Amino acid sequence: MTILSQIMGYFRENIEKAKGYEPGFQPQQPDVIKLNTNENPYPPSPKVLEALAAIGAEQLRRYPDPAGGVLREAAAEVNNVSADCIMCCNGGDELLTIAFRAFCDKKRPVAYPVPTYSLYPVLAKLQNCKAIEIPFDDEFNLPPKLGGTGAALTIVCNPNAPSGSFISASELATLAGEISGVLLIDEAYVDFAEENCTALVKDFDNVIILRSMSKGYSLAGLRFGYGIAQPGLIAGLMKVKDSYNVDAVSVAAATAAIKDQEYFKENVEKVKKARELLMERLCDLKFKVTKSSANFVLAESEDTKAEEIYNKLAERNIYVRYFNLPQLSDKLRITVGTEEQNDKLILALKEILS
Ligand SMILES: Cc1ncc(COP(=O)(O)O)c(C=O)c1O
Repeated sequence: MTILSQIMGYFRENIEKAKGYEPGFQPQQPDVIKLNTNENPYPPSPKVLEALAAIGAEQLRRYPDPAGGVLREAAAEVNNVSADCIMCCNGGDELLTIAFRAFCDKKRPVAYPVPTYSLYPVLAKLQNCKAIEIPFDDEFNLPPKLGGTGAALTIVCNPNAPSGSFISASELATLAGEISGVLLIDEAYVDFAEENCTALVKDFDNVIILRSMSKGYSLAGLRFGYGIAQPGLIAGLMKVKDSYNVDAVSVAAATAAIKDQEYFKENVEKVKKARELLMERLCDLKFKVTKSSANFVLAESEDTKAEEIYNKLAERNIYVRYFNLPQLSDKLRITVGTEEQNDKLILALKEILS
């Protein structure tokens, strides 16, 4: 009996039909060059490790603060908003799940431009809501049609994954004013961009900003993210979250990371510098590279198939991301690594393409 036939009939119909999210490959051997899931190549702030070492038995014995108050205060300060504009989440992904549960159902669709973060259609399936997917043009400009879909929830990933392209805050302000529902701006990668959309929260009561601690703060293993929105939206989202959605250990560690802005900014600058160099070197190897505002680049070889390059890199223990999807099957998404990792990648590409 197959696993599928064992479960048939027990789940809601849309769950049985759903494929579920396919996370990027997580190789377990230590000696690989892992440029496939956009982790930061540098370690988190030493203050994070100090905060973890200071966790005592009492913090573990008791339930945590349900709202993660200390993190809300710290995130409010760096984003220049009040603490009631912040909602803590178990990774940015949890904020997405909460938003789908809060705003979408069979009669309340979600809309987003494609190609984008592949979790959005998965969450739409789980929530049993229609997904209105509007294709980007070749330059990844904001599709004008996105303003007129009537969706309950519109999502714009900015910088977009997997293109790394960026849409200005003023264009997104126009979109926020056009749509009838909520605009969620997924800023998981915004730490590597030149501007962000936090200021929109002051002017629009329908805007939610998603932030992740996984990328700019090097804390993908911790699972921490937060939302920024006007207090009314935050209060509504709080009704949907699990009672203790963020644990005491992750709140302490994420707060220490956010408070160490000096380390964070230094780290981000290193990645941005390495990104520019990587883009240049890929162009030298005749890749077409989309201008990136994130910690990864989307690259298309002029004459060798993306899947072939992906496989040959994997044979050399270098992992990048290949999506066999419309608009992406001829491209590779490559996370910006350390200088040494990027050198090894370029060397391997030279061999493969020669
Ligand atoms: C576009 C985008 N949004 C949100 C997330 C969620 O990040 P996390 O749950 O690690 O905070 C990711 C993770 O890769 C992402 O790529």
